[in-house]
Amino acid sequence: MKIALIGYGQMGHILEMVAQKRQHTIVAKIDPYVPDATHKEISEISVKEAQVCIDFSHPEAFWENLKKLLSLEKNIVAGTTGWYDRAEEAKNLIGNKIGFVYGSNFSLGVNLFYRIVEKAADTMKAFAGYDVAGVEYHHNKKADSPSGTAKSLAQIIKTQIPRKESIVYDAVNRKILPQELHFASLRCGSIPGTHKIFFDSDADTIELSHTARNREGFALGAILAAEWIIEKKGFFTVQDFFKEIL
Ligand SMILES: NC(=O)c1ccc[n+]([C@@H]2O[C@H](COP(=O)([O-])OP(=O)(O)OC[C@H]3O[C@@H](n4cnc5c(N)ncnc54)[C@H](O)[C@@H]3O)[C@@H](O)[C@H]2O)c1
Repeated sequence: MKIALIGYGQMGHILEMVAQKRQHTIVAKIDPYVPDATHKEISEISVKEAQVCIDFSHPEAFWENLKKLLSLEKNIVAGTTGWYDRAEEAKNLIGNKIGFVYGSNFSLGVNLFYRIVEKAADTMKAFAGYDVAGVEYHHNKKADSPSGTAKSLAQIIKTQIPRKESIVYDAVNRKILPQELHFASLRCGSIPGTHKIFFDSDADTIELSHTARNREGFALGAILAAEWIIEKKGFFTVQDFFKEIL
């Protein structure tokens, strides 16, 4: 596969490494601000050879990038976040002109973990003797709490286990109610993103855990999505993609 990277920052560099590991060729690294890019802007020349473009740039740059790539009829994997208030507009603009897949979490491991937790919760729903809860740990630079991943996990559990009727993320200054699903957050030092789910009975605990070691998981997911979108036309979310491959 011949790939053009749009944005050659932290993710751009990791994408290059992961793409090469999977025998793909990077034909352009487009970034106006870094000296090791091959091109400063998207143009007919810079993306000429590319079969698919992977954008991990900047929210403010994304819209212009999309319009240019659309006019050049290039398929896109859009990792850049922060433009989703215009997602509907993007969908209408794209139609079936190109293949386009976007999402805020391309991590293969996290999406596998969603699937594992969904199946585990489905199994455990019949066993009322097991309570269920979650906790997430992150470094102290993280801006939001709970993490988006924790919210997705809590929603998956609540959907699968009807006896959990509501989700509580905050501290509770009372006994937690049996119908409440508690999902706590901790922020400290440099802890990598970690999510744990507990199924707990009088006799034992079953614990599921995902720990991110680095950003390679995002890059691998984006490269797999590029392999998937290359022959497609239409507007897809990362969930559409993972639903099909997992
Ligand atoms: N979807 C996911 O799974 C996922 C995972 C990680 C990061 N992200 C998102 O990807 C984006 C990039 O993340 P990062 O950590 O690599 O950031 P980064 O700041 O390290 O890199 C972004 C690069 O984009 C470049 N850039 C700015 N304007 C550009 C333009 N017009 N054209 C091309 N390049 C341009 C910058 O010079 C910079 O080198 C962010 O929006 C981030 O939230 C998404």
